[in-house]
Amino acid sequence: MIVLGIETSCDETAAAVLKNGKEVLSSCVSSSIHMHRKFGGIVPEIASRFHLEYITPVTKKALKKAGIALSDIDLICVTHTPGLMGSLLVGVSFAKALSFGLNKPVLGINHVKAHLFAPFLEKGRFKFPFIGLVASGGHSNIALVRDFDKIKMIGKTRDDAAGEAYDKVAKILGIPYPGGQVIDNLAQSISESPYRFKCAQFKDSFDFSFSGIKTNVLYTWQKVKKKNNQARAQIAYAFQREVIESLIKQSIAACKKFKIKTLSAGGGVACNSYLRKRLKEEGKKEKIKVMIAAPHLCLDNAAMIAALGAHLYKKGKRSDYNLTATSTL
Ligand code: KG4
Ligand code: ZN
Repeated sequence: MIVLGIETSCDETAAAVLKNGKEVLSSCVSSSIHMHRKFGGIVPEIASRFHLEYITPVTKKALKKAGIALSDIDLICVTHTPGLMGSLLVGVSFAKALSFGLNKPVLGINHVKAHLFAPFLEKGRFKFPFIGLVASGGHSNIALVRDFDKIKMIGKTRDDAAGEAYDKVAKILGIPYPGGQVIDNLAQSISESPYRFKCAQFKDSFDFSFSGIKTNVLYTWQKVKKKNNQARAQIAYAFQREVIESLIKQSIAACKKFKIKTLSAGGGVACNSYLRKRLKEEGKKEKIKVMIAAPHLCLDNAAMIAALGAHLYKKGKRSDYNLTATSTL
């Protein structure tokens, strides 16, 4: 089965071709991030206009790279929730038009749920049950996954997403948007910091909170006299430790509570070097198999959309031409 995946929920226009639900024949991504940088965050109108311009060339490129003709496609899967309304609508309209023109089925996919399966794509083997952590610019969730269609969201951020907190802290420190990778690099450049930050802890749930720590960083930074790179690195180090440890603590707690021995991590924040190292360490200690997506599969992509779609289709899930975009989960 050849599946075409389409992803346009935020600032990445992506298309991918997947064979038999696991073999990635191509995965192409074009990002409008450079156009949002001067505004310090995503401008929805710019994002949707970019999708309109790039959706056709990116899809053509993905097909060409995979050596697939339009007529070879068996199924079209598209992100229809959650995300920016205008951006989602471009992908959904494109996918429905393609489905109508080719007389092939279309299936709407939940972007956050798709992130959960990206870590398994490299090996092409999915292992159930597992606890999945998704940490990105738009979402921070923990899910209990028993099958492709048996996903229970058991933890979420009560305010900012982890990546959003990274980007806001970067802004406070004068680092261009999106600042996650730069904060990661700064934090890695030192081995200790005089600062300590705390995230709210929820013992009775698997939720997170990242808004308080960001305010704490703001007040601390305002008091710093020498606002140089060393001070930036010290703040980044303390901030990163706390945010990542909070993500790891809740994920491991979920594994223990449900007696689950596989933990997956995806979303942009799963590119973080400290998260990748610490999650593996904790997994080893707790005898939990940790699966972290390769960086290009952590970030938004259409291969994960096609992967979840292929399996849901096999389980009988269908969409029709009433399929529309929904901005929230
Ligand atoms: O998954 P993604 O591409 O987009 C959303 O679905 O939101 O994730 C982008 C987010 C941004 O907030 C970015 O700052 C963050 O992932 N990010 C990182 C790192 N690389 C990207 N955060 C922490 N450490 C990184 N190395
Ligand atoms: Zn995402």
